[in-house]
Amino acid sequence: MAQSGEIMNLLVERIVPGGDGMGHHEGRTVFVPLAAPGDELAVRVVDVKPGYLRGEIKAILKPGPARIEPVCPLYGECGGCNLMHLSYEAQLEARLDLAKDAWRRSGGIENLDFDIVVSRSLGYRNRAQFHRARSGEVGYTRRSSSSVLGVGTCPILAAPLARWLREQADSPDRRALDRILAGKDRFVAFGYLERTFLEGQDRDITVEICGKSLRFDIGGFFQSNLDMVEKLVPAVCSGLSGARAADLYCGVGLFGTFLKDGFDHLNCVEQETRALGHACANVGKAASYAATSIEDWTKSSQARERFDYVVVDPPRAGLSAQVRSWLAASRAPLIGYVSCDPVSLARDAGILVAAGYAIESATVFDFYPQTSHVESYVRFRLD
Ligand SMILES: C[S@@+](CC[C@H](N)C(=O)[O-])C[C@H]1O[C@@H](n2cnc3c(N)ncnc32)[C@H](O)[C@@H]1O
Repeated sequence: MAQSGEIMNLLVERIVPGGDGMGHHEGRTVFVPLAAPGDELAVRVVDVKPGYLRGEIKAILKPGPARIEPVCPLYGECGGCNLMHLSYEAQLEARLDLAKDAWRRSGGIENLDFDIVVSRSLGYRNRAQFHRARSGEVGYTRRSSSSVLGVGTCPILAAPLARWLREQADSPDRRALDRILAGKDRFVAFGYLERTFLEGQDRDITVEICGKSLRFDIGGFFQSNLDMVEKLVPAVCSGLSGARAADLYCGVGLFGTFLKDGFDHLNCVEQETRALGHACANVGKAASYAATSIEDWTKSSQARERFDYVVVDPPRAGLSAQVRSWLAASRAPLIGYVSCDPVSLARDAGILVAAGYAIESATVFDFYPQTSHVESYVRFRLD
């Protein structure tokens, strides 16, 4: 029986959800952060759990074929990225494997053929949440604790945001930031074109996506990788038409802004009233709006309409049982599902397939290089 502190040799088999490498030692599963597939490691056991062990790398005895030197000097210390020690190609493979594994385990669907839409691997992030240390330094939380790691460069940030962060480290105007943050110890920053917008100083931001303007609240939800949004929107919205569509979990109306061109009627539903206010302005008069939970909306008269296309873009937990039942019973000929968690997506997909839907396409949109986050879009067609 392995003990905490024990050193063992481990061959890393694959990356698992959360980004750890996984291997087996004397029949027990071992999870190790920052490990690469094919690595032969000396691992120190740090936690003994009933069915598995957690370890940390003591030494890399033989690196796996895809292991590379991370470009960030703070990698491993910082709580942000967790796959930067893999080449971009190996990261894609790992994220694709995470998606396929989730579909097999949670959806009961084997060998799904995913397309993959790649991102630039660095300099892609337009939105970041920063923390502020008591000392005034700006940074991220550490990987192994909630304390703040001061950060002067972050290679995944888009250019304006990276520049702003550099300036904070080189010549910090702490009083100015104190005034903006008014006592808050974390804040969102958004870099767009040449500017960086700061929560506390700026409120609404307008960006251009696929030729249309979208306005959102800096503190509310908006996608973090705008180049990828330009690729996602056509996949979700282009070439579709009909009498009625629904944009559920619509946020500020990202998809509705484009769907309104193809459909006679559009229903936008979102529970955050401020986000829905932006959706009204972004999508315009062509749609009906409901500021309510999707769960409550499914009980409304609007939800009894016949929809030609329903888009859902729920948070990580996916669809609640009530929304899943409504969607399966809607018999909408087309359903588009945008997901930031392959496990909840696969669970929901399994239920739609059992209800008679076929998977028309499944695509991983690589929104978050250097991390184990998997964003996907799946289109279902009623068989
Ligand atoms: C992943 S975001 C997607 C937003 C939008 N589709 C976009 O891409 O910008 C999920 C949205 O769902 C909203 N939301 C979460 N749970 C909800 C629920 N049960 N009912 C209605 N809206 C919900 C959140 O406020 C958030 O705006």
